[in-house]
Amino acid sequence: MTARRILVTSALPYANGHIHLGHLVEYIQTDIWVRFQKLRSHRCVYICADDTHGTAIMIRARQEGRPETELIADMREAHLRDFTAFDIAFDNYGSTNSESMRKFCHEIWAALRNKGLIAERDVTQLYDPEAQTFLADRFVKGTCPNPDCHAADQYGDNCEVCGRTYSPTELINPKSTLTGATPEVRTARHLFVQIEQLHQFLNDWTQCGEHLQDEVANYLKGHFLSEPLRDWDVSRPAPYFGFEIPDSPGNYWYVWFDAPIGYIGSTADWCEKHGEDVTTWWKPHLAAGCSQPAGNAPGCEQPGAQCEIHHFIGKDITYFHTLFWPAMLHAAEFNLPHKVHIHGFLTVDGEKMSKRRGTFVMASTYAKHLDAAYLRYYYASKLGSRLDDLDLNLEEFIAKVNSDLVGKVVNLASRTAKFAQGSGLSASYPDDDGLFAQAAAAADVIATHYENCDFAAAMREIMVLADRANRYVEDHAPWTLKKDPAKAGELQDVCTVSLNLFRQIVVYLSPVLPRLAEQVGQLLNCPIQHWNDAQTPLIGTAVAPFTHLMKRVELAQVQAMTEESKQDAAPVAEVATDSAAYLEKEPLTAENCTIDDFVKVDLRVARVLECEEVPESNKLLRMTLSLGGDQKRNVFAGIKGVYKPEDLVGRLVIMCANLAPRKMKFGLSEGMVLAAGAGGQEIFVLSADSGAQPGMRVH
Ligand code: MSP
Ligand code: ZN
Repeated sequence: MTARRILVTSALPYANGHIHLGHLVEYIQTDIWVRFQKLRSHRCVYICADDTHGTAIMIRARQEGRPETELIADMREAHLRDFTAFDIAFDNYGSTNSESMRKFCHEIWAALRNKGLIAERDVTQLYDPEAQTFLADRFVKGTCPNPDCHAADQYGDNCEVCGRTYSPTELINPKSTLTGATPEVRTARHLFVQIEQLHQFLNDWTQCGEHLQDEVANYLKGHFLSEPLRDWDVSRPAPYFGFEIPDSPGNYWYVWFDAPIGYIGSTADWCEKHGEDVTTWWKPHLAAGCSQPAGNAPGCEQPGAQCEIHHFIGKDITYFHTLFWPAMLHAAEFNLPHKVHIHGFLTVDGEKMSKRRGTFVMASTYAKHLDAAYLRYYYASKLGSRLDDLDLNLEEFIAKVNSDLVGKVVNLASRTAKFAQGSGLSASYPDDDGLFAQAAAAADVIATHYENCDFAAAMREIMVLADRANRYVEDHAPWTLKKDPAKAGELQDVCTVSLNLFRQIVVYLSPVLPRLAEQVGQLLNCPIQHWNDAQTPLIGTAVAPFTHLMKRVELAQVQAMTEESKQDAAPVAEVATDSAAYLEKEPLTAENCTIDDFVKVDLRVARVLECEEVPESNKLLRMTLSLGGDQKRNVFAGIKGVYKPEDLVGRLVIMCANLAPRKMKFGLSEGMVLAAGAGGQEIFVLSADSGAQPGMRVH
């Protein structure tokens, strides 16, 4: 087996939200594949990063009144904490908002320009005058323009009621979902990549049978490649959180232009730390010792490609990774992906994850209640090499973990290790009717399944071995041998066989269950480090005292997790994301607010002394509030249109008095007025004569 150089990536999670069980399908899948490659002694580097740019992050940061950099720093920490809890071991975790990244964006952009692939055109779009930003289709809602439908509350690109697609400028009575303002139609210059020029290349590369699953190749052929490819809009006018385009001031690269370049940037960071040259991974044809040209080679032939690049992604972001990204790499003469592995979406109990049912489970919530190993094994047992969606059935989850991991695997050790603790393993490997040899011979089949990402098939093979090993233990009943001192030698032999069969299984499972592998290394005084450790039995070694390897899952734990997830689902600010690629994504969830957080909120009764409309805003009123004595606060409230300013003067309101002051476009806001209701005209504050006194605490 010659060692390969393999660069592996998972999609870069959006810095706009927390990791949930859906994301984990991908990161667990990739991590298993990487650990498998490393176990086989290949040179394998696992790269990821946070995807930090775009409108959604910009808007969220604005809403939170802090710079984007602060928001993404916090989110990075949370993401890393979640990944660590699930034993997902990146070799490097970068950020798309870093200088190493910007450099590659410039380089790829220059190449696209030089090759004459960039076009410029005016684009007419809706513009939110209050947020001062252009609105992607998903940020506009209004009435469907189809005269037979006229359904209210539809997004700017298509109607969920009648299915009609349209442009957001056709919507009747459009409203910005960011501010509620009525958008204006405005025109701005945009930059496009004319990927049609690379049609032939993309056809060859996607259809050669090497790089994509068949169903993906067919989908691309049917949906995209059978017609001219449309130009791809890769710029956004300011304000936009991202990198400014060097030769087009005031314009920024669209988040999906720079996101995949994050794979290269993060590799460069890793190389920097390890004294390596990033070109040996991404531009091997330029690295020393190779004189062949690359990049513009047609189709799947990649002269000079000395390193395999494997991307793991979900099906929702297919065309970014199988059309745009290869086109960019090809044009800029970078190494093309060897393979893009695409997985389906997670459902829970047969349905889309749902906050109401408590099945929209955050990684951190799961980790509070259950062992990460359970989920790693369960996903492995469900993941095939195709794009089918994968169902987390909670009953099956409990049954599978308990019967396979606890009942079949760990049980092998718990029934024998304690009997071998004094004696250690036999000095020579006893006769086992060929069981060890049989399981050793299964290594190649299991390895092929791992290599092909058919983890479900690998798990099935491994469980067959576990069944056989259990039958051996039952047939030889070590607990009976133990009772007869004359049979100590036989007992030692039976335990030696059982523990070796157990260890073999744990070697095969170790990409999935790294912690178990580590514990078993300690138990048998020999670390598991290589796939071939399953080929030779251990003999004559000591056996450490047996400690619990894995507990059964209890229904109550799963219930506690879903209950907590329902509570996570308290109403939260929804921020739309800015690409059709995010269509299937769920809105943000806020982090839990503990009772300690809540009591920090200083709620006071206040009287409205002055109130006026903010002329530049559709929603805001400016108020001067009195908290009693001479304590006054300047506050903005989004209830214009519900109350006339003059009607509010003299009224009492409840305000949050210790909210950090925040500079807004129209002035400093020194607190927040609480008003509640169903919306529209139904938003209530206190009446003027409620008997409350300004300054009174509300808790
Ligand atoms: N930021 C982009 C990826 C840029 S890659 C250059 C993005 N981020 S994401 O956070 O929304 O999703 C990250 C990965 O998780 C994607 O591959 C996505 O398909 C996957 N999943 C997100 N939700 C999922 C499920 N419910 N089920 C399975 N995978 C899911 O997309
Ligand atoms: Zn409609």
